[in-house]
This record gives sequence, C-alpha cells and structure tokens, in this order.
Amino acid sequence: MKVSKEQGDSNISEIRDSYVRDLGEDIRYWIEEDARYFLHQALSTPVMNILAKTQGAYIEDLQGKKYLDLHGNGVHNAGFSNPEVIRAVIKQLEDGLAFTPRRYSNLPAIKLARKLVDISPEGLNRVLFCPGGSEAIEMAVTLAKQFTGRWKTLSYWDSYHGNGFQSSSIGGEEHFSTGQGPMVPGAFHVEFPNYYRNPWGLEHVEDIDEQYLRQIDVILKRNPDVAAIIGEPISSTPVVPSIHYWQQVKVRCEKHGIFLIFDEIIEGLGRTGKWFASEHYVTPDVLVLGKSLGGGLLPFAGIITKEEYNTLQHRSIGHYTHEKNPLCSAAGLAAIEYIEAHSLAENANQLGQYLKGRLFELKEQFPVIGNIAGKGLHLGIDLVKDPLTKERATDYAERVMYYCLRQGVAFKVIEGNILTLRPALTICKDDADLIIESLENAFSTLTL
Ligand SMILES: Cc1ncc(COP(=O)(O)O)c(C=O)c1O
Repeated sequence: MKVSKEQGDSNISEIRDSYVRDLGEDIRYWIEEDARYFLHQALSTPVMNILAKTQGAYIEDLQGKKYLDLHGNGVHNAGFSNPEVIRAVIKQLEDGLAFTPRRYSNLPAIKLARKLVDISPEGLNRVLFCPGGSEAIEMAVTLAKQFTGRWKTLSYWDSYHGNGFQSSSIGGEEHFSTGQGPMVPGAFHVEFPNYYRNPWGLEHVEDIDEQYLRQIDVILKRNPDVAAIIGEPISSTPVVPSIHYWQQVKVRCEKHGIFLIFDEIIEGLGRTGKWFASEHYVTPDVLVLGKSLGGGLLPFAGIITKEEYNTLQHRSIGHYTHEKNPLCSAAGLAAIEYIEAHSLAENANQLGQYLKGRLFELKEQFPVIGNIAGKGLHLGIDLVKDPLTKERATDYAERVMYYCLRQGVAFKVIEGNILTLRPALTICKDDADLIIESLENAFSTLTL
C-alpha cells in the first residue's frame, strides 16, 4: 500500500515500527490498544506514541520523556495547558455557563468577537465562529458564493484547507479527495509561488511571480463566475510569497469582483511575527482562523470579514451548534490576551530570526540543506540529495525526524522532505538552541 507523504510522514513505515519498538512496554501496549479501537487512517492511527501531558512548548509521553514539540497541530501558539487559559475556562464552568442554545448569546463570545475585531487589520469587523477550521473554510467560501452569486473557486495545488467536502475540494492534495467520486464542482487550482523550486529555473522574484500570476489570469479569462481565491498568505510548507505576488492577486480580485480569502488557521494569532500573516501583505475579504483560537484547550475557529458583506440576514452561512460556545470563547479570549500581554508575536519574530540565522549557518556546513524558508516561528528546511538537482531527500528527512525525536525534539515532515518547525510562541532562546543542536547532531551523524 503506497501512502502519500504530501501532508506528513507516513504512519506505517519500517522506520516508524523500529521507533515504536524502542519505546517502553507500557507505551507499546497502549499504542496497540489505540490501534485496536480506532478506525485506522493515514497520518493518525496507528500513532507513534502515547502522551501523558502537554505543557508549555513541550509534550511528555507515558514514560515521562519530554519533547519540544514543533508541530502541536498549530493549536499551541499560547503554549499547551496555558494556566491563564485553564483559569478562564474553569471560571466559565464555575459561573455555570458552559453552553448557550442558538438564539442566545453570552459575554465571552461577544468579548472574543470584539477583541478579534480590535486586533484584525483595518476593515475586518464582522465575526462568525464555528467548531473547527474545515468548517470555517466552508463558511468563508459559502459567504463568497452567496454574496457574489457565483459558484467557482480558485485555490492552490498542494494546499490543505481541511477535511470537509468543500474544503478538501479547494485543497490541492489528492490524498484528501481521491476515492470518493466527484468533488465540489468549479474548484480550479493553480500553483502556489515557489521561488526555490520554480519549474522555469528563473531567478528574479518578479519574473517568477509573473509566471504564477499568469496561471490565475488564464483561468479568470475564461471563467467570469469565480467567487473566491483562497490561499494561505504563507504556505504551510512554508513558502513566503513576495508582497508583489499578493498585491497582484488582490488587484485581480478587485478587478473581477472576486473575494480574497486568507486561511490563517496556522499563521494567525502571532505565529509569523504579527497578529496576522495578512499584515505582511494585503487585507483579505475574509480572514479564517482556527486551531490556536481555542487556546490549545478546546476546538474553535471562525471567520472575520467586512461590514459590506453583512448582507445575508436571510440565509445561514454557518449554522453550527457550538457557534457561540462560551467555554471555547473564554479559552480563545484568554489565549489572545496572553499572546498580547507576553508579546509573543514579537518573540516569534525575534526567535524566528535567530533560528533562521543559525539554520543558515548549518546550511554552510551541510549541503543536504537545500533551502530554508519561513517567517517568525513558521520555518521549513528543504532537504535535498544534491543542491544542484534539488532532488528531494525523502528517506533522509524521515531518518532526521526520528533521530531528533529520540533526542527530544518533535517535528513533522511535509511533502516528503521538508522539516517544518512550528514551536509554541512561548519558547525561549534555550529552546531554540535545543532545536539547532538536535538538527546539527542529526546532520553530523546520518549519511545520505
Ligand atoms: C491551513 C489549514 N486550514 C484548515 C485546516 C483544517 O482545520 P481543522 O482540522 O480544525 O478542521 C487545517 C488543519 O490542519 C490547516 O492546517
């Protein structure tokens, strides 16, 4: 059975088996029990370990071994089990308001919406919440389709926007859409800019951008009924597009009356060194948040959009039971206040720059590092067999991942060969040094 490595490292490989064999007997027992009762699926079950604790920037397994977690599924911007977030949720429970039925609201939900409007780019001032990121993407696209009266979308190959029907149609990975018949019609895809791996061998950013923008133009020329362009401002790989690229996409959106939707489910709430990755570029029509919006404690997500799109009083865009959940809202508000009070976006900016600098030093030493990209604490290392051919060092990347895991540093490999580093924004310089030390040991020890 061939398992795609687009989204992450495979959970049914020989190297995974040998890693699990070395974990304690107790952990192996529970891994087997997990595999016995859960429905198996790629990327999740069978699992690689069983956790007993997630605290701050670290996760801890049943044997008490700690790992600095550079993945965290993106929920950990304010750190895992943040005491302020826990306190806010406990207070909410003690206040006796853990849920509000539809047609009622509550103070935590209103305060979270107000806070998001306060910190969002100018002009984004209407909020809608839902339980998860996939649903938030569905709401954003539904809003665009309903408002424009159009039905097509344009998004990016290799992107991930969730596992819903519409969100996986918009996503660009066959892994999430193959094998279930036709997906949502009218979902066009183009390539996301990639300067290091641009297929034309071009060097100048604007020349490369023109090639990628041309792909959008070809589709828009023949499809006047595109409702929205959906993308992550910085891809999760990550590739950091030029400002010119997103400015030009926005020009096209404005010219053709198309919504620009930014999925900031990973990048929002401080990760890239600003509250929102959009702030490095342009303001979208809809900004989508999730993951860390639940404070690392509870599931929560939502969209922020413009006043002018507040016109669908007669329709339901996101009719979710937990739309205004007070517990999730209290968690989200406490997490945002924590990020603000502890200047975590600035920490992401500074430690991101520090890490990048150290990674570039490693690149001088180890030619297997083909490229380093990212912003803030959203970094990626593209490992190659040969710096000239840029052939992906897929097996090597997986070995590096398991080597670092044994050293107590956990990260995910994406597209088979890119190590993605996304720690909690609460990390300190010592944590950053631990990341570098562990990678350096791996590159020095493992041969291609
Ligand atoms: C960029 C992006 N968009 C959307 C989603 C979907 O979010 P959820 O898993 O909460 O449905 C994810 C989840 O990994 C994501 O990374």
